[in-house]
Amino acid sequence: MKTLVPDCAALQAHFALLRSELASGLIERDEEIDLCLTALIAQEHLLLVSPPGCAKSLLLDSLLKATGGSKFSILLTKFTVPEEVFGPISIQGLKEDRFQRITNGKLPEADFAFLDEVFKASSAILNTLLKILNERTFDAGEGSLRKVPLKLCVAASNEWPAPESAQELAALFDRFTLRKSLSPIRSQAGRKKLLWNREHTPKVSVHLKPTDLEAARRYARELPWSVSAQEALETILKDLAKEGIQPGDRRQFKAVGIAQAYAFLHGAEQVEPEHLEVAAHVLWDDPREQPQKVAQVIARIANPIGMRLNQLLLEVEQVLSSTDVRKLPETAKAAAKLGEIDKQLSELKSNDRVTRTRNYVREQLRQLKLASLEAI
Ligand SMILES: Nc1ncnc2c1ncn2[C@@H]1O[C@H](COP(=O)(O)OP(=O)(O)O)[C@@H](O)[C@H]1O
Ligand SMILES: [Mg+2]
Repeated sequence: MKTLVPDCAALQAHFALLRSELASGLIERDEEIDLCLTALIAQEHLLLVSPPGCAKSLLLDSLLKATGGSKFSILLTKFTVPEEVFGPISIQGLKEDRFQRITNGKLPEADFAFLDEVFKASSAILNTLLKILNERTFDAGEGSLRKVPLKLCVAASNEWPAPESAQELAALFDRFTLRKSLSPIRSQAGRKKLLWNREHTPKVSVHLKPTDLEAARRYARELPWSVSAQEALETILKDLAKEGIQPGDRRQFKAVGIAQAYAFLHGAEQVEPEHLEVAAHVLWDDPREQPQKVAQVIARIANPIGMRLNQLLLEVEQVLSSTDVRKLPETAKAAAKLGEIDKQLSELKSNDRVTRTRNYVREQLRQLKLASLEAI
């Protein structure tokens, strides 16, 4: 039977819908949603790190709800044994002097995996895990390596691995092409939603078939690069090197495919400098200081809209939290500042995130005025 593969624009529309469905439940997780979908399109593993309770599990679970195929999820602890991840050892096999694992329903048979608290894995698990993630192969005991179907592994952790951690852990950390830390909800409006919305679980109606995902990966890989985007990436790498940040060659090359996937996700026909925003989550090795520096360099050279939005939103929150609405001059100053931010937003190339941010800023402005009227 021949399966119909949707054309590029139709698939992009599918992803755009999934993106908005995820964003409708999750508060202030737009960037992370984009990262998840980019990982899914590029089929590159993703790691999210934050203190507990920042919706890592909610996001990653919701993402995997939209995909077909077999799934495997586990919360790792230092007591988790290899059998729980790779499958139990066959008793029948042992009777016949063979060491063989029964992998039904376990990681070696999964198309998609979610490893929660991934760095808690014991060293008995780490080596095999590395092979599965990196080479996508597994030795079930028959003596020969077999290919695993794994397309994407998403993982979460409450902390980055310690700088002095064992080599295996560092190797595992490096297997995640995309890595991001999450912050708790920042805005007042977001906090209100968190407190008073009963349900945060996104309602996902989009279902991506394996053929859709394969097509998306191919379309993304075929997206051309504009000359300015190529130049921007090269300049970014040079400037990072000057700052002492030199991600390995493999990571640099992976950034190319990731930017293509991100551009595809944003409905683009070619990679533009603004799509290099996503490389901020690829082009570093040390999580302690490098991510911020990389983000600054990329923002300076490629000037992506997403990064400008984050910066402006941060300013909005600073204005709101430092304004006493009972004091008229303060409110007037804050309103002027928000108006100015809205003007800056209006000058950005419009997309759904810009529109949402503008609506948010205007709503804050309206509420600010109302509150100050009430205070009089
Ligand atoms: N940004 C957010 N958006 C929506 N819900 C959130 C958010 N942050 C926390 N929550 C709520 O807190 C719960 C705990 O999140 P969870 O996914 O278990 O966090 P984590 O895996 O990061 O520890 C979620 O199920 C949700 O109800
Ligand atoms: Mg969790």
